Amino acid sequence: MAGRIPESFINDLLARIDIVDVIDERVPLKKAGKSYQARCPFHEERTPSFTVAPDKQFYYCFGCGASGTAIGFLMEYDRLDFVEAVHDLAARVGMTVPTETGAGPGARSGDTARLYHLLEQTQQYYSRELRDHPQSERAKNYLKARGLDGPTAAAFRLGYAPPGWDNLLKAVGANPEAVRDLEVAGMLVPKEGSGATVGQSRHYDRFRDRIMFPIHDHRGRVIGFGGRILEQGEPKYLNSPETPVFHKGRELYGLFHARKANRQLERLFVVEGYMDVIALHQHGVSNAVATLGTATTRDHLERLFRVTPEVVFCFDGDEAGHKAAWRALETSLPLLGEGHYVSFLFLPEGEDPDTLVRKVGVGAFEDAARFTPLSAFLFDTLAAQVNLATLDGRARLIDLAKPLLSLVPGGALKQMLALRLSRLSDLDLSTLAPMIGGVRVPARADARQGATAPPREGRSLVRHAITLLLHVPALALRVERAEQLVRSGQGGADLLSELIAFVQSNPNAGSGALIEHWRDRPEGRHLQKLLAQDLTTPVDGVEAEFLAAIDRLRALAHKTMRAELARKPLKDMTEEEKSLLRQLPLSEK
Ligand code: UTP
Ligand code: MN
Repeated sequence: MAGRIPESFINDLLARIDIVDVIDERVPLKKAGKSYQARCPFHEERTPSFTVAPDKQFYYCFGCGASGTAIGFLMEYDRLDFVEAVHDLAARVGMTVPTETGAGPGARSGDTARLYHLLEQTQQYYSRELRDHPQSERAKNYLKARGLDGPTAAAFRLGYAPPGWDNLLKAVGANPEAVRDLEVAGMLVPKEGSGATVGQSRHYDRFRDRIMFPIHDHRGRVIGFGGRILEQGEPKYLNSPETPVFHKGRELYGLFHARKANRQLERLFVVEGYMDVIALHQHGVSNAVATLGTATTRDHLERLFRVTPEVVFCFDGDEAGHKAAWRALETSLPLLGEGHYVSFLFLPEGEDPDTLVRKVGVGAFEDAARFTPLSAFLFDTLAAQVNLATLDGRARLIDLAKPLLSLVPGGALKQMLALRLSRLSDLDLSTLAPMIGGVRVPARADARQGATAPPREGRSLVRHAITLLLHVPALALRVERAEQLVRSGQGGADLLSELIAFVQSNPNAGSGALIEHWRDRPEGRHLQKLLAQDLTTPVDGVEAEFLAAIDRLRALAHKTMRAELARKPLKDMTEEEKSLLRQLPLSEK
């Protein structure tokens, strides 16, 4: 899946599919005027405020503010990532998703389809062996001794790889192609050297005499395994290696089960082990996931924040646990804010979630008051490293905190972290803010008449033009030299001119294409809100109103440009500036 999907493809795709069909299959819609309605799938409500507008190819909810294109809907509702959502939609209309680099899909996707199939067969084989193998009593007893009940073992599809070197090879590696694919999938290991004679295999089973934990991706496909030894021994857990379908740095054990068990995930616990996820699940805490023997990565967190607003890291309360928690904190900082929260649950020393939930029940996991918010963990840890009673200690606190707070995106949380640092260090916020960046200092009353503040008229003018353009993107084709509008000095004029330029170079772009292009930018949300509004202007007045707004902005821009040029001696002007001066109308309209 290497390579980006070209934007022109996204635009074509959005033009081909109908968002009403896509949503109606999942959330039955009722016609209401020219749009469709339903009870919002993204929040609890009695009366429908979820609206799908076929003309905009856009959905929005007046209740919770959810909104987006068909791609956005699949990402939210089916919980897919962007690329998966695009693939699903493309498949509906028979389009093949191209990529900007590489030769396109072709053989590669066929290969991975075979891997998924073989891994599924492998999982079923291990499950059968747990039930039927003559030696499986030992495995069953082990699971029983660990307190696991049958339904939970079945829900996580646990299995058993029997002792011996070629059980899987014989059961699933029916032909040379399957053997090769099983090797690619990490289930068979090639033998050293090539001494094998005819009839003898060149491969052996990677997993032998182990309890098998299948690892599912977030759509429920088996992508790899963890295998636990029954007795003492090394390694305790053996995991699938990295393969074309299994990437430890991205996948989370239990995420599929957590999503299946919970329509909405208020929070997700991140624990360390397979057995922690399973034991918690058995005791009713069905919202836990584990990394696969690695530290939490940014990819992990991005995946988690797509399905839940809050991540709670569970660590042992000992020194190693605190170290690991600190690493998790550092990874989290760039993703905070925008409704993303991180906290920590430190367990009594020597306990893991598996042992704790058996001893004391689910209390520790249900009572949010026991979680340490990231901000508290951050400042407590830093404050413990300095002497806050001294000026030098407080300066050192700032030095330690500065690079960390700089990582946090601007927003309420960053603002509050900065304020807390200001209080702890006794340094005022206006001095501290520039050191961190992205922190706002409340304006003093006498600074309010700043020359840069745009008149209110201007701001709503730009906003109105953007709203009209979002609804009817083709309006952009009527605008010349949109880059000039930036000089109007009006807030948002740069965004407006960018939107116009985008449509001019993608003339078939619809509303959804604009939303998708701005998906990952801070203005994206704002654009969605504007598109969600119904236009009050009658259809045949839209163009005139839009062009009037553009004219007004251009007049403001000309005024600025003229004023600037007027200050410049003619001899210092470039040819371009001179010609511009000639073109600019002398008087404002
Ligand atoms: P732990 O050693 O904390 O084990 O490893 P655990 O989860 O408590 O296991 P049980 O309860 O003894 O069965 C935590 C995680 O680290 C990875 C596994 O993902 C494991 O679940 N790990 C551990 C390995 O990959 N290999 C190992 O040898 C040990
Ligand atoms: Mn354990």
